[in-house]
Amino acid sequence: MHNEEIEQLKQALDASPKNEYIRSMLIEKMQQHNDYNTELIALLNDSIKLQPNQLSYKERLITCYFKEDKISTCIIMAEALDLDSLSLPTRSIIAKCYLREGNNAQAKLIYENILDVDHEFEDTELDESFRLKSLFQSLEDEDQDILFSKPTINFSDVGGMDDVKREIDLKIIKPLDNVELYAQYGKKIGGGILLYGPPGCGKTYIAKATAGQINANFISIGLDDILDMWQGNSEKNLHNYFELARSKTPCVVFLDEVDALGAKRSDLKQSAGKNIINQFLAELDGINANNDGLLIIGATNTPWHLDTAFRRPGRFDRIIFVPPPDSTSKEAILKLKLKGKPHENIDYKKIAKKTSGYSGADINAMIDIAVEHKLEDAMTTGIPKPIKTKDLLEAAAKHKASTVDWFTTAKNYALFANKSGLYDDILKYMK
Ligand SMILES: Nc1ncnc2c1ncn2[C@@H]1O[C@H](COP(=O)(O)OP(=O)(O)OP(=O)(O)O)[C@@H](O)[C@H]1O
Ligand SMILES: [Mg+2]
Repeated sequence: MHNEEIEQLKQALDASPKNEYIRSMLIEKMQQHNDYNTELIALLNDSIKLQPNQLSYKERLITCYFKEDKISTCIIMAEALDLDSLSLPTRSIIAKCYLREGNNAQAKLIYENILDVDHEFEDTELDESFRLKSLFQSLEDEDQDILFSKPTINFSDVGGMDDVKREIDLKIIKPLDNVELYAQYGKKIGGGILLYGPPGCGKTYIAKATAGQINANFISIGLDDILDMWQGNSEKNLHNYFELARSKTPCVVFLDEVDALGAKRSDLKQSAGKNIINQFLAELDGINANNDGLLIIGATNTPWHLDTAFRRPGRFDRIIFVPPPDSTSKEAILKLKLKGKPHENIDYKKIAKKTSGYSGADINAMIDIAVEHKLEDAMTTGIPKPIKTKDLLEAAAKHKASTVDWFTTAKNYALFANKSGLYDDILKYMK
């Protein structure tokens, strides 16, 4: 199909072939029309002869050849050029050419470089070939809901942890309920809470309960979900998760094992590690986005591996130690966990005393052991009997507290690397 404008420009260029303006106009117009691809190739080749240093002609020519499926021609052209000087779309075409020729390594390298420059760059063919996590592209809108949950537990299901509950209330729940009041005092809402402590002591549990408490959505982002060998792709994943959360406010965004960012840093190429941290900080800061209604809770067992940049104001500016439950909390947890199981005359105080160093998870384990015994008995005798204090004490003797090792490590950091009193709480607890 002929195009009037293009025909006129062709005539004009014939009349004055040295007119650069007409030439570039014509090239521009032709490129917008599929029908002119062959003619455009001829024109570009002519133009390059006239101006061998004009890079944009060469880039356009590569695009044209690619349209014609002339893959090896594209590659020959590309090899004569300095890739870094080309535009990202051209580079992505070249990457695709290598891919189609079966040179995956080269394609990968080029795509990696593109993502280095612009980590939001997307290309379906390259993304698919390198199996970049296409979780988000492959999920239909309604399917994205599977990433969210609406927790059914709330603060009343969490035994003890009064300090943590208070902090969460103050920092996260109150601001959400009193948006205008905070605004009047010019107090910015945002930032997050970082929970740290030995394993099994309720960090994940209380984050979920927070969502349940305010009837919010809950999304958990494990670093394993986002960290990708692909430079640039981890950032994209992280950004997608945050964007998704922003579309589902109010939403508790739970970042499990945030320390993995720091720890993995040495595994990743240096620049990649930095990029993901920067991306993470940008998401926390709500740069280019609105974090209203996002409640950010991070958790880690190894706060000493955490990048210090995380702790700046507006980010994780509340760092809370989640210790193993004290006696009262242990009693509360025990009662919660025994609810619904047959039990009788439990001496909660005694059990709390005999389970020093136990985490909430350890209490679960102890109850499990006791339950198994009761089941065995019931199967031999045929008579189900309730759990008693003795059963739990016997089970406790079989299960070793899982927080002990953690404190051995933590103590060293608290004693020798206690910058700005960050770990005072650990020392206080250990006294
Ligand atoms: N305060 C608590 N009240 C009720 N249950 C608790 C409490 N603390 C822990 N638990 C129980 O212990 C289990 C483990 O807790 P959770 O997974 O929250 O630990 P965590 O601190 O996130 O551990 P990790 O550091 O290993 O991720 C929970 O599923 C819950 O059943
Ligand atoms: Mg956890």
